[in-house]
Amino acid sequence: MISTEKIVAAVEKRRTIRREQTNALRLVDGSGDDLAGLIIDDFAGRWIIQTLAGNDPILDPALGYRSLYWKQLLKTNKNAPKYLAGEPADKPFCVLECGLEFEIDFQAGYSPGLFLDQRINRVRLRSLARGRMLLNTFSYTCAFGVAAAMGGAATVNIDLSRHYLDWGKRNYELNRIDLKDHDFLYGDVFEWLKRFQRRGRKFDLIVLDPPTFSRDRRSRVFRVQDDYGDLAGHAEACLRRNGWLLCCTNYRGMTFNAFLRILRTAIDRPFQAAPGSMPPDFTGHNYLKTVWLEF
Ligand SMILES: C[S@@+](CC[C@H](N)C(=O)[O-])C[C@H]1O[C@@H](n2cnc3c(N)ncnc32)[C@H](O)[C@@H]1O
Repeated sequence: MISTEKIVAAVEKRRTIRREQTNALRLVDGSGDDLAGLIIDDFAGRWIIQTLAGNDPILDPALGYRSLYWKQLLKTNKNAPKYLAGEPADKPFCVLECGLEFEIDFQAGYSPGLFLDQRINRVRLRSLARGRMLLNTFSYTCAFGVAAAMGGAATVNIDLSRHYLDWGKRNYELNRIDLKDHDFLYGDVFEWLKRFQRRGRKFDLIVLDPPTFSRDRRSRVFRVQDDYGDLAGHAEACLRRNGWLLCCTNYRGMTFNAFLRILRTAIDRPFQAAPGSMPPDFTGHNYLKTVWLEF
């Protein structure tokens, strides 16, 4: 039986985050909350609990969740979370993050539509966005694009999945952003970056937040440890003189310093590098490596 007292303490610790118009956050982060092996993410009262154990965990309904879903914490598990208790979340619904709305879908597969660990980076991007042009690569549901557009940027999102780009457009619409200043480009990021280079197209802000491993339409493989430098080099060639490059990876097999070395080797132009941070609700392992490069 999972300790209700420790969960209550973890929820209490995160009370101030909710005052920032946010109802999508990590409620329990394993050992960071003295609950090793347990993760709970809250999407507007619909909780996804992640455990290593192979059987359905039991959580006291008095904790106040509206719905309870479960995912097994296994790298190989790509399934949608399983319904356990409460109101079924069988249709897409909206959450709030720092006043912005995002569509969440528990039926969509392993990821429900918003990576909660990028909240601080989205806030920072929004603050840098006014009057600028953003390129959001590996855009998924375009959460970085929405944040920058709400901060006053024109945006271009690229993804290999039309399904995610359509989801991204709905996220823009949820925030009443006029789509006419924003693009949603289908295709491989490397191909688009090379095309922009040939055409001399430049951006002020570029977000690089690729998956650790991916295969494009022609079965070409991208691996963070082998290909991030190449990616960063192509992106830098599309960046204006005083631009910013946000480089992220959640690849656990590389240290922050090794990641920074890859970026320094790949990019010739001088830049200032500053590490980003994970949101305060992520109290466990600091796995997300973020570097803001200012040129
Ligand atoms: C981990 S998610 C990226 C998360 C995203 N940056 C965010 O902040 O929500 C990976 C995304 O990259 C896309 N993707 C993977 N390989 C790609 C490629 N070669 N070109 C374009 N998109 C790609 C996938 O379709 C998926 O939507």
